[in-house]
Amino acid sequence: MDTRTDSTAGPAAPAAGAAAGDGSGSAAAPGALAFRYSAGFGNQHSSEAVPGALPVGRNSPQRAPLGLYAEQVSGTGFTEPRASNRRSWLYRIRPSAAHPPYRRIGQGTLRAAPFDEAEPDPNRLRWNPLPEPPPGTDFVAGLWTLGGNGDVRRREGMAIHLYRANSSMRDRVFGDADGELLIVPEHGTLLLRTEFGPLAAAPGQVALIPRGVRFLVELPEGESGGYVCENYGTPLALPELGPIGANGLANPRDFLAPTAAYDEAERPVEVIAKFCGGLWATNLEHSPLDVVAWHGNHVPYLYDLRRFNVIGSISYDHPDPSIFTVLTAPGVDFVVFAPRWLVGEDTFRPPYFHRNVMTEYMGLIEGAYDAKAEGFVPGGGSLHNMFSAHGPDRETYARAVAAELAPHKVDDGLAFMFETRWPVSLTAQARNGSHLQRGYDRVWQGLERNFRP
Ligand SMILES: [Fe+2]
Repeated sequence: MDTRTDSTAGPAAPAAGAAAGDGSGSAAAPGALAFRYSAGFGNQHSSEAVPGALPVGRNSPQRAPLGLYAEQVSGTGFTEPRASNRRSWLYRIRPSAAHPPYRRIGQGTLRAAPFDEAEPDPNRLRWNPLPEPPPGTDFVAGLWTLGGNGDVRRREGMAIHLYRANSSMRDRVFGDADGELLIVPEHGTLLLRTEFGPLAAAPGQVALIPRGVRFLVELPEGESGGYVCENYGTPLALPELGPIGANGLANPRDFLAPTAAYDEAERPVEVIAKFCGGLWATNLEHSPLDVVAWHGNHVPYLYDLRRFNVIGSISYDHPDPSIFTVLTAPGVDFVVFAPRWLVGEDTFRPPYFHRNVMTEYMGLIEGAYDAKAEGFVPGGGSLHNMFSAHGPDRETYARAVAAELAPHKVDDGLAFMFETRWPVSLTAQARNGSHLQRGYDRVWQGLERNFRP
């Protein structure tokens, strides 16, 4: 039995829109694909596509059920403390170990840390969207690295990628040993077929593919683009809440893991591994997406950014943007500027001027961002490196100091930030790209002296 669903045949089963009472749920990509999901960040999920495929009471029985092979995938070291330990057990048609040697393949516009192509640069920089790629470009071929930090061989730091793709991965499957991938679609829904089952990520949703987990990307809506944060280090987790209490920000129950689905078709499939920055490939005569059942907590997730519970000031000033943190890891944060009310009295309401030890890459999923009147467009991005001074542009400042401070809802856009502890070094293609905006500094020109003692 092949439980793969064909996205070209219309809205896909299994169980579109179904939400069971067992803690599982579903999330519809607006107007597109819906799958059955299992809810809860960090949970010990379990799923079987065929009843009886998941062993009960042990992980590695003498004979795994239904003739399957048991295989553990560990995302953290075996002895990692229990609270941060991540692993899953997969019950698959063939073990991953059965493969011929990998060979080095080209990697197009994909780059990895250490980033030493261009001298680190304190300038504030902004880019237009990536140009459309040549026909036949799939998700992996369409990855384009802007820059990053750390060292992939030390499992420290991160990379900022964008992608534009116009072709589904058919018989190509990708796995990244170097880090987890936080995928932020900007246009076009991504259908991610993973070892753990399918996820449909539409713009406004994000998908998290854990380190080493294999997946392919189909494009049910055609040409697609977005952003990727590749986190080389400790996996992203939900931030502590402190005095906020037991609820708020991104709630664990809104993170959706897939349910098991397997591809048993026998056909040539190329498996691509990203390993220490390079791409390698091997060939199988079957798909590695052949997991019939699984359990564990090293699993992919889907999260809808519009479910983010925004916390803000109801008196004056506004909190530091860390209050918008969705997921955090040592040295890397993912922050969303979701629709929210501004009600601060006697308060400069846009993000304040600041200089910051952290480095901020911002992207825009839709609409506009409240600190920039123009030039920051969906699919584009800006980089404010360590201690680069920034803040609202001249036009936004003038409007904010003159505004009547009635309650105001900011709901005309969805922006996000990849924030990192270490400065970001650019790739040559980012520093010299034709889509780099020249003269970004001009947005802060004309912020004139108003001081009249
Ligand atoms: Fe900032």
